[in-house]
Order: sequence, then C-alpha cells, then structure tokens
Amino acid sequence: MSDAERGEFQFDTGHSTLAIAARTLTPDRAYWPHVWGIRGQSNADTMIKYLGSKKRLLPAIGAICDALEATTALDLFTGTTRVAQELKRHEVEVTAVDTARYSTVLAQAYIATDERQISQPDLSDAITLLNELPGAPGYFTETFCVESRYFQPKNGERVDAIRDRIESDYLGTALYPILLAELMLAADRVDSTTGLQMAYLKQWAPRANKDLALRMPALLEGRGTAINGDARTVAQTLGQVDLAYLDPPYNQHRYFTNYHIWETLVRWDAPAHYGIACKRIDSRDAETKSPYNSRKTMPEELRHTIAAVNAQTLVVSYNNESWVSADELLDWCGQGREDATLLAFDSKRYVGAQIGIHNPHGDRVGEVSHVRNLEYLVVAGDRLDVAAAVDAVPGTFEQHRRAVI
Ligand SMILES: C[S@@+](CC[C@H](N)C(=O)[O-])C[C@H]1O[C@@H](n2cnc3c(N)ncnc32)[C@H](O)[C@@H]1O
Repeated sequence: MSDAERGEFQFDTGHSTLAIAARTLTPDRAYWPHVWGIRGQSNADTMIKYLGSKKRLLPAIGAICDALEATTALDLFTGTTRVAQELKRHEVEVTAVDTARYSTVLAQAYIATDERQISQPDLSDAITLLNELPGAPGYFTETFCVESRYFQPKNGERVDAIRDRIESDYLGTALYPILLAELMLAADRVDSTTGLQMAYLKQWAPRANKDLALRMPALLEGRGTAINGDARTVAQTLGQVDLAYLDPPYNQHRYFTNYHIWETLVRWDAPAHYGIACKRIDSRDAETKSPYNSRKTMPEELRHTIAAVNAQTLVVSYNNESWVSADELLDWCGQGREDATLLAFDSKRYVGAQIGIHNPHGDRVGEVSHVRNLEYLVVAGDRLDVAAAVDAVPGTFEQHRRAVI
C-alpha cells in the first residue's frame, strides 16, 4: 500500500520529500488558506481551496488584460476558474478549459452563465429549498463520513439529500451547474482536510462542525464558454483569441486524486473506491492521468500545447521549482512571436513547504531549506503588446527578456 493509500500525502520540494501523516495533524494546524493566498480577500470563501490557485497573480493578469484591451480570452487549465472570472470581470469573453469535471461545472456556473439570464428569485427559491432538505444518508455519507472522515455525518447526509434533489429537479436547467457549484463550495467550507483530498485530519477541523449551507452565488454578466477536455486537443480546435492564459500542473500531484470527492460529487456515479482516502477506483485508469504529472512527458506536452495555442498574446504561469527551465519556457513561448518576457515574483511556497518535514507518524523531523520560491509569468506576443502588458503589471518582480526575433 502506498503512503497516499494509507491516507498520507507527500510533497516533493525538489530537495527532499515531505511525508506528512495528515491524519495526525491537529485541527489548529489544519487549515492554511493563506498559503494559497486565499485568506483576507473579499471573495475569500467563494472559491474551493485548490492547489496552485492563482489568487495572488490576479492583479497582474487583470492589468495585462486591460493593457492589451483584450475582448476574447482562453483559460486553458482553468481549475477553480479564478483567473477566468477575473478576465470576465474585465468584460472579456472567456473560454475556460479543464479535464476535471468539477472544474467544468464551476466554469459552466461562473463563466458560461450570463448573470442577466438567470432569474434571481428562482435561484434564491432553489437554494432555500435545498437548504431546508433534511439529511438522507447515502453513498456520500457512507464513503466520506463513515469509511473516511472528510465531513461530519450530519453534513454528509445533507450533501446526499441535496445532490439527489439537484439531479432529480434541476438536470437540464440553467440552474443545474450553479446549484452543483454552490453545493461544492458549501461542502468545501465544512470539510476536514488541509485542502487536498488525499487525506483527512485525525481530529475534526473546527469548521467541520458548522452546518453545511448553500449561498447565493456572485454570478457575472457576460458571455463565456466551458469546455471539458484536454488542453492540447482543445487548443487545436479553437479560433484566435486576444489573450490566452496557461497555468498547467507543475509536478507529480494529480488533480484527479487530490480532488476526487469533487469529481464524485459532480459525476454522482457512486464509484468503487480504495485506500483510507477512499479514492475513486478509476484513479488507476490511464485516461484519468495527465501527461503534466510526469517528469518524462510534461515538457514535451507543454511545448506542443503552447505551439497549438492561437492567441495574439500568450501568458504562461510557471515557477522556478519545476521540470521546465525559464529559458526553455521563454523559447517555447517566443516561437513565432516577436517577444517573450518572463516576470518572476517572489512568493510563499505551497503548504508542504511551510509546515516542515514530518515522519509518517506526523512528528516534525526537519526543516525545509526554503519557504519561498519564484512564480513566473511569461508574456509573449508582438513587441509593443508585450511592452505595454509588462509596464502595466503592478508590484515588484524580476524581468528577463528573450532576444527579439
Ligand atoms: C495549476 S492548476 C490551475 C489553477 C487555476 N489557474 C486556478 O487559479 O484555479 C492546473 C489545472 O490543470 C488541469 N489539467 C491537468 N491536466 C490537464 C490537461 N491535460 N488538459 C487540461 N487541463 C488539465 C487540472 O485539473 C488543474 O485544474
């Protein structure tokens, strides 16, 4: 049985492997949203906790979008849809793409839905009705509250009841993805994890004791598209956009397994599962694996995907600890374009790096060599566009330019 199957999770720091027995963590160390830059923001809990979420880069991406006067955009690895939402707020028509089904539901709710097309009274009535449903234990309760302990049973039973009702009463309606997204967010607010679903906490996180409640969402006005699919394949089929943003996975940690509960909540297919983490059995299937999570396949996949993107200006997120060097990235993004400039932002590292090295019993056995890294944004396109975009980015950063073609 692997560490992950025993309910532990690991982080590769590039220098050493952190093995953290998450079930031995205490509740007050259970929640580190600040590590991902989530705490203290106006939309602090309008987004699921997510590995690699780009909250801190939103001002930079928004400024680039304005400088380019973009009206169309592509967010090719959209995840939480956080970046796509920011672009939509800048009155851009966004296409949001991801292989994860839960991400596509978020994109259907927040990107593809035009707020003006939704009846607020109907939405409000639906949320009130769902919030008033009594719990009805089913697969979700049994799997994620009894066999594992991601949620308190009182909340798992309500997830079961609400999810069944969404399927029976709203499937095929405009409210369906919105209600599903709000159920995901509501469950995320009462979970007992560190933000990953490879493990749950030994003692309940304080927030897990709260009652699950759906909220009225902050939908956005405007058009958009949600596509469930592989980045490279989809990129090959799309027409040109003003701005394409690429934020690929940057290490071996798979989103399919780290967020398997959201995948199951959305699919509602009651899959067989394995290990203490109760991961979906299809996690073992080749088609649920991404070439981005393998050191061997990732660089070529990213290079081909960048080449497949048809955009006036390309913006790629990466960091200085992954499998592709800054020089390679500049080269790939600059192919066929006049200019490519890399911006490097000093940043706090992800959760594993903040909490030290632990043995499988959860005892701290070492310190991590560094707790900060560099977040990259590569901006590539016409020389004048790139210059305008870079000038517009607020804050302090290092800048590296590729030789102009
Ligand atoms: C670093 S995260 C993106 C985070 C996002 N920018 C945010 O702020 O929430 C990478 C995303 O790539 C998705 N992904 C992995 N392999 C993919 C592929 N082949 N095509 C499209 N998306 C993929 C994962 O599901 C994950 O949501």
